[in-house]
Amino acid sequence: MTGPAIDGEALDGVAATCLWTLRNRAEESRHPGSAFTDPLAEHLHQRISYDYGRFGKPDQIHPLRAAALDLALRAYLARHPAATVVALGEGLQTTYWRLGRPGVDWLSVDLPPVIDLRRRLLPPEPRMTAIAASALDRGWLAGPDPARGVFISAEGLFMYLERADVLALIADCAARFPGGQLFFDSIPPWLSRRTLRSGPRGRPPSSTLPDGTDNSGLRLSARYTVPPMPFGLTVSEAGRVLGRIPGVAAVEDVQPPPGRGAWRPGALRRLADLPGLRDLRPSITLVSFAERG
Ligand SMILES: C[S@@+](CC[C@H](N)C(=O)[O-])C[C@H]1O[C@@H](n2cnc3c(N)ncnc32)[C@H](O)[C@@H]1O
Repeated sequence: MTGPAIDGEALDGVAATCLWTLRNRAEESRHPGSAFTDPLAEHLHQRISYDYGRFGKPDQIHPLRAAALDLALRAYLARHPAATVVALGEGLQTTYWRLGRPGVDWLSVDLPPVIDLRRRLLPPEPRMTAIAASALDRGWLAGPDPARGVFISAEGLFMYLERADVLALIADCAARFPGGQLFFDSIPPWLSRRTLRSGPRGRPPSSTLPDGTDNSGLRLSARYTVPPMPFGLTVSEAGRVLGRIPGVAAVEDVQPPPGRGAWRPGALRRLADLPGLRDLRPSITLVSFAERG
């Protein structure tokens, strides 16, 4: 798997965000005090030449989200060992290898330039199929056998999509995959609004609009503003809105496993779960679809 460096600068817009989350997982995996281990992420991070510094300081949020996904997936596969896993917007995630290459079918869905990178960089796996398409194109829904169980992940994806599109996709998954589960994460609406301040594409980041409002968007550094994230969802709203979708049996707010520093179990984490603050933080949601009949 060694070879010449691959130029990551070919990715742009929302596709390039997979380098942000990859960098955060790789750096956390290298951290001596971390429980998160992902040698393949470290390898990919090294192979892809990119100005990673534009993403600012590494953050534990993405490796802890990945660890939460690993736990949810392990639990589902223990109950449904022949299930299919569908990873929507999988980016350069290496979940399959962190889980020890589970003997299940795995569909990896992402935009063409990202799938191209996955094909060039990741070890070929006979049970893994890459689909170069939008998660919103319903073609992938025909792949998995609903009777064997289906686990869908959408890590770091839905916030980049429009609300109506996300809710329609969840409804279609609930109808097609009874007994399945969907794991996704959300940003709160206040943060979504903040990202939209970078303005309709093309307007320079970090400036003040003629009406005096801040146009700085969500900046990770002087060189990087995250792409617009139009879809924000609170923990309470997730329960209310998703619970009304036909075929949704349960909606769970998932706590990431403990990390280091501020992410250790303790006061800060308890604070983030107080009723007044819960709806202001990013969240992870596990949706269970009702069994048929
Ligand atoms: C923040 S990255 C997350 C990648 C990966 N899930 C992770 O956690 O590292 C967002 C990913 O969603 C992908 N993406 C954005 N819009 C998409 C769409 N409509 N369909 C499929 N993938 C999409 C991007 O190409 C990118 O790989």
